Amino acid sequence: MESSCDETAAAVVDDRFQVWSSVVASQASAHAAFGGVVPELAARMHLERIADVVSEAMVPFKGDWGRLDGIAVTRGPGLVGCLAVGVAYAQGLAVSCGLPILGVNHMTGHVLASRIEDPSLEPPFVALVVSGGHTDLIHYRSDEQVELLGATRDDAVGEAFDKVARMLGLPYPGGPAIDRLAERGNPRRFRLPRPVLPGFAFSFSGLKTAVLYLLRDLPDREPQTLADVAASFRLAAVETLCIQLEAAVEHTGCRRAVLAGGVASNRLLRAMARERLQGIAEVTIPAPRLCTDNAAMIGAAAIVRHSTHGFDAQPLDIDPGLRQYG
Ligand code: KG4
Ligand code: ZN
Repeated sequence: MESSCDETAAAVVDDRFQVWSSVVASQASAHAAFGGVVPELAARMHLERIADVVSEAMVPFKGDWGRLDGIAVTRGPGLVGCLAVGVAYAQGLAVSCGLPILGVNHMTGHVLASRIEDPSLEPPFVALVVSGGHTDLIHYRSDEQVELLGATRDDAVGEAFDKVARMLGLPYPGGPAIDRLAERGNPRRFRLPRPVLPGFAFSFSGLKTAVLYLLRDLPDREPQTLADVAASFRLAAVETLCIQLEAAVEHTGCRRAVLAGGVASNRLLRAMARERLQGIAEVTIPAPRLCTDNAAMIGAAAIVRHSTHGFDAQPLDIDPGLRQYG
């Protein structure tokens, strides 16, 4: 089960990383009016929907809880109220169905969505984890040893996509909207910075400010001009991510790389990462529906965590600031 932000999700996954069901109820349209996720509204909507979403995920099993081995739920990182709804519901279910429970790190879930895409994928690999709240480069040495190589010092790349989308007058969530608009634009019309920091770190606040000034000084606001801005921004952001990913692959000597998180559904990022790493590393990118928040990835991470740590004791605590992968 997944409820860390604005998607209420439940899935059934087996120990071969086969997905038997995966239900995602997005709240995006409810938050769009506010231009971003409203935490209190998100928690209330999880509460309203979670029972139906879980029941729907159990349809292939005709609601027979006896056919499951355990219940896994996201315990962090995420919004406090949202995590609390998911963890409380999962614990109630676990007690009433007599099943053990397991708490999962949402970001590890994003990374291990790659195991659903390719069940034969084995560590070591480098992962670029790009979402609305994170921009991390990790060295996934083994299921027990995951090293953070670098992270953003300010905005996450998804946040930059969302903020630039807002400047362009596009609806929330901005990432997919920019991705679509950029397809019609000229990415070479405006030159924007590629902020490459030492130590595999990222910084997207300067790029965001550069777009702000670019828009202020634009000669016109014709649809083609705005598409050119979107394309120029997308290219700058994606090229920055790929430069650091390539450096991390070379630094670690890994022959495999993984893309993870909502921004990994970006069309240009998927194409450019594959192109730049050709002959250097094998690249695994989950299908777009496995990149954005879902519960199948939480199931995949639970399978792996169970193999190294077993189940957790009740009561399970939420951890909104959970940082360590694994
Ligand atoms: O992983 P995710 O679904 O939720 C978090 O854990 O944050 O990521 C959501 C982020 C949002 O910032 C959204 O704008 C961005 O992923 N995103 C994209 C695309 N699809 C989603 N960014 C760029 N291009 C996309 N196609
Ligand atoms: Zn996420």
